[in-house]
Amino acid sequence: MLRVFITGVAGFIGSNLTKRLLETESDIQIIGLDNMNDYYNVELKEYRLKQLIGSERFLFIKGNIADKICVENIFSKYHPDIVVNLAAQAGVRYSITNPDSYIESNIIGFFNILECCRHSYDDGNVGVRHLVYASSSSVYGSNDKVPYSTEDKVDNPVSLYAATKKSNELMAHAYSKLYGIPSTGLRFFTVYGPAGRPDMAYFGFTNKLIKGQKIQIYNYGDMYRDFTYIDDIVTGIIHVMKKTPQETSDGVKYKVYNIGNNHPESLLCFVETLERCLIKAGVIDKAADKEFLPMQPGDVYQTYADVQDLIRDFGFKPKTSLEEGLTKFAEWYAEYYGIK
Ligand SMILES: NC(=O)c1ccc[n+]([C@@H]2O[C@H](COP(=O)([O-])OP(=O)(O)OC[C@H]3O[C@@H](n4cnc5c(N)ncnc54)[C@H](O)[C@@H]3O)[C@@H](O)[C@H]2O)c1
Repeated sequence: MLRVFITGVAGFIGSNLTKRLLETESDIQIIGLDNMNDYYNVELKEYRLKQLIGSERFLFIKGNIADKICVENIFSKYHPDIVVNLAAQAGVRYSITNPDSYIESNIIGFFNILECCRHSYDDGNVGVRHLVYASSSSVYGSNDKVPYSTEDKVDNPVSLYAATKKSNELMAHAYSKLYGIPSTGLRFFTVYGPAGRPDMAYFGFTNKLIKGQKIQIYNYGDMYRDFTYIDDIVTGIIHVMKKTPQETSDGVKYKVYNIGNNHPESLLCFVETLERCLIKAGVIDKAADKEFLPMQPGDVYQTYADVQDLIRDFGFKPKTSLEEGLTKFAEWYAEYYGIK
C-alpha cells in the first residue's frame, strides 16, 4: 500500500483528487487533513468529505498544517510515501483585507510540511518519496509575455497570495537542495467545476443570476483567464504524483509545472457561456444585467498557461472545453440547491 498524505482534503481540488485516487488506484491509502475553516460555506466542505468517508482506504483528520505538532504526529504515525499539499488560504482579493491567514497557512503551514518531509529521512528511513504542492498562476503577476512559461521571471507579485505561493516554490527548492526532498510545484490556472469554490467568480455570478441581481464585470470584460476544468487538474496531479522530478544540473530533484487549459477566454465570453449552461440546466431563465467596472487591485489582466513541459513529460494537457465544464457545473448546481 502506498500511503498518500493529502492536505486540504475537504477543499475543491483535494476532495476531487482523493475521490479519483480512491476510484482508480487500488494500492493506495489516503490520510487526509483539513481544518474545515469557514473562509467559505463549511457545508460544502462537509458535502465533499461525505463522498470520501465511506472508503476504508481513506482516513480523515481534522487539523491545521500551521500546527506543527499535529503535522509531526501524522508523519510519525503514518509515514507517508507521497505528500500532496493543497491546504492553503486561497483567493487574491481576500489577501488584501485578511493577510494574516495567508502567512499562517501558506507560509508557516508549508514550512511545517517541509520540516516533516525533511525529518522523514531521519535514522535512515526511506521517508517521503515525492512532495507535490499547489502553487498558482497568480505568481505571474502582470507578466505581459504570453503564454506564461515556468521559465519566466516571476519576482514581481501583485498580491500577498501570489507572494506566498512564489515563496513556497523558493522554500521547496531550498529544502530539495539541502535535504534531497523530491518536490514538484503545480501552478494551477483558474480551476472550476461542480462543488467548486463559492468565492470564485463563476460561482458568485451564478448566485447573483439566480436572484436576478446585476453582475459586476471587471476591467469592462477585457480580462482573460485560462479556465481549467477540475477533472483535468486532477488528471494532471496524478500524472505528476507518480513521477519524481529528474535531477536538475545542480543536483536538485525539483520541478514546477503549469496546469492550465492553454486556451484563455475573455471574461465576457465566460459569463455568456455560463448563462447559456445555466439556462439549459434550468437554473435561470434569462441572462443577467451587467455592470461594467474598472480593474480591481491585485487582479491580473490575463492568464495563459504554457503547458509544453506537461506534454513533454507526461503526454498530457487539459482538454475539457468551457461549454462542457460549465454544463457539468450548472447541472451540479441545480441538483445541489434542489432547483429542478
Ligand atoms: N481553485 C483554483 O482556481 C486554484 C488556482 C491556483 C491555485 N490553487 C491552489 O490549490 C490549492 C487548493 O485550492 P482549492 O481551490 O481546492 O481551495 P479550497 O479552499 O477549496 O481548498 C483548500 C482547503 O484547505 C483547507 N485549509 C486551509 N488552510 C488550512 C490549514 N492551515 N490547515 C489545514 N487545512 C487548511 C481549507 O479548509 C480547504 O478545505 C490551494 O493551495 C490553492 O491556493 C487553486
